[in-house]
Amino acid sequence: MKGFTFQTTRQIVSEPGASAQIGALMKGLGAARALIVTDAGIVKAKLLDAALASLRAAGVAHEIYTDVVADPPEAMVLAAVEAGRRFGADGVLGFGGGSSMDTAKLVAFLLKSEQTLGEIYGIGFCKGWRLPLVLVPTTAGTGSEVTPISIVTTGASEKKGVVSPQLLPDVAVLDADLTLGLPRHVTAATGIDAMVHAIEAFTSRHKKNPMSDTLAKEALRLLAGNIRAACFDGGNREARAGMLLGAMLAGMAFTNAPVAAVHALAYPVGGHFHVPHGLSNSLVMTHVMRFNAPAAAAMYAELAPIVFPKIGGATDAAKAEAMIDGLAALIAEIGLETKLAQVGISHNHVPMLAEDAMKQTRLLVNNPREVAYADAVRIYEAAL
Ligand SMILES: NC(=O)c1ccc[n+]([C@@H]2O[C@H](COP(=O)([O-])OP(=O)(O)OC[C@H]3O[C@@H](n4cnc5c(N)ncnc54)[C@H](O)[C@@H]3O)[C@@H](O)[C@H]2O)c1
Ligand SMILES: [Fe+2]
Repeated sequence: MKGFTFQTTRQIVSEPGASAQIGALMKGLGAARALIVTDAGIVKAKLLDAALASLRAAGVAHEIYTDVVADPPEAMVLAAVEAGRRFGADGVLGFGGGSSMDTAKLVAFLLKSEQTLGEIYGIGFCKGWRLPLVLVPTTAGTGSEVTPISIVTTGASEKKGVVSPQLLPDVAVLDADLTLGLPRHVTAATGIDAMVHAIEAFTSRHKKNPMSDTLAKEALRLLAGNIRAACFDGGNREARAGMLLGAMLAGMAFTNAPVAAVHALAYPVGGHFHVPHGLSNSLVMTHVMRFNAPAAAAMYAELAPIVFPKIGGATDAAKAEAMIDGLAALIAEIGLETKLAQVGISHNHVPMLAEDAMKQTRLLVNNPREVAYADAVRIYEAAL
């Protein structure tokens, strides 16, 4: 057996209503002044109320930074750091989707560090430690609560990652009740993102290992089994809990067996056309999988009955194809756009997208099949 390493968040509290424990958790980490990093949608949906009451009850002073925007731009991250500095924060609570959690992770690190944001892009450049950090996901989702990754939009459209163990929080709090009101389109897009995390972890070229495989399979079982109910019956607590747990397990899997070409081709779509992260993944997912199938058929065939228990197919290739067809049908059924043209992308944009996708070398090295520029062009053309 090949050797491997595994890292994840060291404490996870998973229970409906668990956000009422946040004050005690923050205090337990030694924080007396917490900066809450979130976005306006979360505040408007009143999702913070229990957390705020618990902070008051625990005697933890707090200030709310509500200006997180999707696909965190550099300037916004720095503004959040400045808000924390002005407040004298000694702890950070990231509360929301991947955008809020990714921002919170960087704020917790940069408030304590002498390093600048520009110095920490890439893998393993953070030095020293960060402030106490609790993360609470409200989408299911990025799995950011268990990943050492923050994704930032630099310049107009490029996405860069900071990947360092310091970005894993002290505690992840999974409160599925927070996701009960997540709108259908966001539920669908973020749910597909999580499924992509599990699939790409399972086929990850160099770091796939027995733990990431186990987590990816269980993640897919939960996500595929609950995504329809979560979309069509949003108040279904069991389905919501299954999605939140599945997204976290997928996050654990891809932290240790990184994602690949679906994400590499999705990032330029999100960056140039302001398409939400989950939707941009969904738009290219099945096309990348069809491209990967010659190299990944056996692995896809192993996942196929987990995603679709009644799936047929006599050979690995047939099972892989049936799974990819099934995923395409699922994406349409849950109401997501299915073609790049529906988000304003035409044939003329393909060379630019393919050029940008080729820059995502951090991700492309993990793909089960090598992707050249001409392949990226063909995949985008198929997705139009
Ligand atoms: N760190 C990682 O490992 C990782 C992995 C994948 C993606 N990402 C990043 O995460 C970001 C995407 O995160 P996301 O998909 O969670 O979306 P998001 O955080 O951008 O949120 C999307 C929208 O959903 C709303 N929302 C969130 N929860 C809600 C709820 N419970 N009820 C009502 N509205 C709610 C928010 O207000 C926001 O308007 C991107 O920047 C992406 O690059 C990070
Ligand atoms: Fe993702």
